[in-house]
Amino acid sequence: MAMRPRDGWVVLLAFMGTVSLGSVLGSGTPAAQFEGKDTLLRPVGYREWVFVGSSLGLRYDEKAEEKPASKSEPYHNVYINPAAYREFSNTGKFPEGTVMILELASAETKNEPGLQGSYQKDYVALAASVKDTKRFEGGWAYFSFTEKNGNPKSKAQPFPNTACWSCHHQKAATDHVFTQFYPVLRAVMPK
Ligand code: HEC
Repeated sequence: MAMRPRDGWVVLLAFMGTVSLGSVLGSGTPAAQFEGKDTLLRPVGYREWVFVGSSLGLRYDEKAEEKPASKSEPYHNVYINPAAYREFSNTGKFPEGTVMILELASAETKNEPGLQGSYQKDYVALAASVKDTKRFEGGWAYFSFTEKNGNPKSKAQPFPNTACWSCHHQKAATDHVFTQFYPVLRAVMPK
């Protein structure tokens, strides 16, 4: 059946409605972009996401007394995609498709006379976690976008659960996420 001109407008308006509603809700494209079953593409635009916290020299290390933290510990900066942040602030739960970013920045100190303290200098590594219970046994998967030599990677395979997931499973306060170290998330978590 031929489409009448008016039908064309209805279709076009419906389409525009979907697009603009999608961008208002931030639900346009999923934060996690996969290639095939489980290869995650390097997330883009995450520095515009919600910054949930930063730490310096924070790690679980039973032998820390024997080998004290080195001076060159990088800063850990953590972000969450905005749609997941909103859902978490309403329900206290991380929805399917949540992406958390862990970006490391080198720490710089005393590089000019009289300057005290420490600041972030260069970005040195990028890691991400994704909640996707259909794709991943254990609910969350963990990825690194930095080669051993420091070069950035454009895509990554998940680590085996023993490498990352198990520590997050044991020690993180809320569903594998270290909310105990993220004041921004604790502030919005429903009581
Ligand atoms: C021995 C414990 C431990 C292991 C193993 C571990 N992490 Fe974490 N991870 C942490 C802690 C503690 C934080 C809190 C944020 C920070 O680092 O300051 C964290 C935070 C994160 C975050 C930010 C979101 C969140 O879940 O809180 C990502 C992403 C992440 N880690 C990725 C990884 C990846 C990738 C691996 C494996 C290569 C890994 N982690 C292995 C302890 C661990």
